[in-house]
Amino acid sequence: MTTLLNIQCSPRYETSLSRVLSARFIEQWLLSNPNGKVITRDLMKTELPFIDAHWLSGAYIPEEKHTSEIADALKISDALVLEFKTADEILIGTPMHNFNVPANFKAYIDQIVRFNQTYNLNGGMLEDKRTTIILASGRLYTIDAPEHYSNHVNGFLTSVLNYMGIKSIQFVLAGGMRAVNLGQETLENHAKKFETSILEAIKNY
Ligand SMILES: Cc1cc2nc3c(=O)[nH]c(=O)nc-3n(C[C@H](O)[C@H](O)[C@H](O)COP(=O)(O)O)c2cc1C
Repeated sequence: MTTLLNIQCSPRYETSLSRVLSARFIEQWLLSNPNGKVITRDLMKTELPFIDAHWLSGAYIPEEKHTSEIADALKISDALVLEFKTADEILIGTPMHNFNVPANFKAYIDQIVRFNQTYNLNGGMLEDKRTTIILASGRLYTIDAPEHYSNHVNGFLTSVLNYMGIKSIQFVLAGGMRAVNLGQETLENHAKKFETSILEAIKNY
């Protein structure tokens, strides 16, 4: 059975383009994977502390040396790393917030990029996993758009995923939400513009 880990982080729900398009992706993915299992990790509903001194000292010493403070600090990381490791495929739905991912997603990344768990001195420890990233933004960041150089999500997430060993990465750039945010277009109509990209992303699976 194939497991898809669906990571979502938008503070919005019904009005979120990244969540609406991710739901469409999952619908199609389940048609291609009738026995597939989807695990949703909603970062708006996950306790995500910033890493602290206990976390840091614990991450670099063997488990048998962990104090109770260290064990407590690493507990959330342990669970998130295990969930991420055991997934066969990954879907990430994320808004662009100030040219990068939202802070909750950065906090998540800091919890899962962990020495001797997801990377070591030889490089990434994870087996490659097909990973789709649906990026919702107010403006357009396609390669032909004048502001494409301000998109720091693609490069950042590619580096982080590559660092852990994940190389099969595809992006769906869902820009232009500004018109919806300004009430000039409906979310439903805007979301339809990305139907082909979502179907293409599934085809690549
Ligand atoms: C705090 C904040 C920062 C944002 N920063 C950007 C930005 O840097 N570039 C951009 O194009 N849109 C930006 N936007 C607009 C969102 O990317 C856009 O509304 C997108 O649809 C949000 O994803 P969601 O619909 O899944 O919540 C920002 C929105 C918020 C709330």
